[in-house]
Amino acid sequence: MSSASQKEIVLVTGGTNGIGLDTVIYIASASPNYHVIVGARNLSKGETVLKDVQAKSSIQGTVSIVQLDANEDSSITAAAKKIEQEFGRLDVLINNAGICPETGTEQWPSRPTLRSTFETNVFGPAVLTEALVPLLKRSSAPKIINVSSVLGSISAISDHSGASSRATFPAYRMSKTALNMLTAYQYCQLKGDGFKVWTYCPGFVVTDLGRDREQRKDMGVESSETSAKGLLQIVRGERDADVGGFVARYGQKYEW
Ligand SMILES: NC(=O)c1ccc[n+]([C@@H]2O[C@H](COP(=O)([O-])OP(=O)(O)OC[C@H]3O[C@@H](n4cnc5c(N)ncnc54)[C@H](OP(=O)(O)O)[C@@H]3O)[C@@H](O)[C@H]2O)c1
Repeated sequence: MSSASQKEIVLVTGGTNGIGLDTVIYIASASPNYHVIVGARNLSKGETVLKDVQAKSSIQGTVSIVQLDANEDSSITAAAKKIEQEFGRLDVLINNAGICPETGTEQWPSRPTLRSTFETNVFGPAVLTEALVPLLKRSSAPKIINVSSVLGSISAISDHSGASSRATFPAYRMSKTALNMLTAYQYCQLKGDGFKVWTYCPGFVVTDLGRDREQRKDMGVESSETSAKGLLQIVRGERDADVGGFVARYGQKYEW
């Protein structure tokens, strides 16, 4: 086992882009006591990202990579095995990988769109977490953070005068609502084993999720670094008072 196993071991799924990549950089820059594993569905992209991250002068901790496609059981099994062999345990799982294949203009998403959205955004984190629970149970302070969205909040859409009621993307929204239930379920099931679990909304930020990166920048939308900062706060224990809940950046908390 590597000497990195003395550190707090953090896995970020979808760590090769957007919020996941910024989170890898933020956590690895925060302290020498973190080892961050970049979950990469595409290993060659991941290796390039890993080199870029390791070359940053801000990095204090250590960083490695694991091939991890949340939609592939064989990839999940192999990743869990690799993490066990290299570190013997996992301290923090950040289920960040997600997709939004809808354009927002279709009348209703097709069945394949509904399926693929749920596959990555719900079934992926559900199956991956289950595979990693034995490694998380070996941690003295296991944490699971599911990256969701306020668009999955039933309370928010129920206010028909609010902004949430005007947003579209129903497949994406339903998938995030289901992910929120996964959080509540995991916390209920695993709390007795000392687990802390949260749903986290990273805010509306500039990434490739909506294929409108430049438009978001022109609109003055905030950087995904702000999302990473919020995730780092949870990892550091600064949102422990909100454990089991639906948290967001800047100390905010949402209703389910
Ligand atoms: N951006 C926003 O405004 C916003 C708002 C609310 C919530 N979110 C949530 O934040 C999370 C991150 O999104 P983002 O905005 O950073 O999007 P992004 O830039 O498109 O990055 C998504 C990441 O997920 C990875 N990914 C996609 N499918 C995967 C799979 N099957 N297995 C493993 N990894 C997979 C991608 O891999 P590749 O690098 O190979 O493409 C990429 O690294 C998502 O859960 C999203 O729903 C984002």
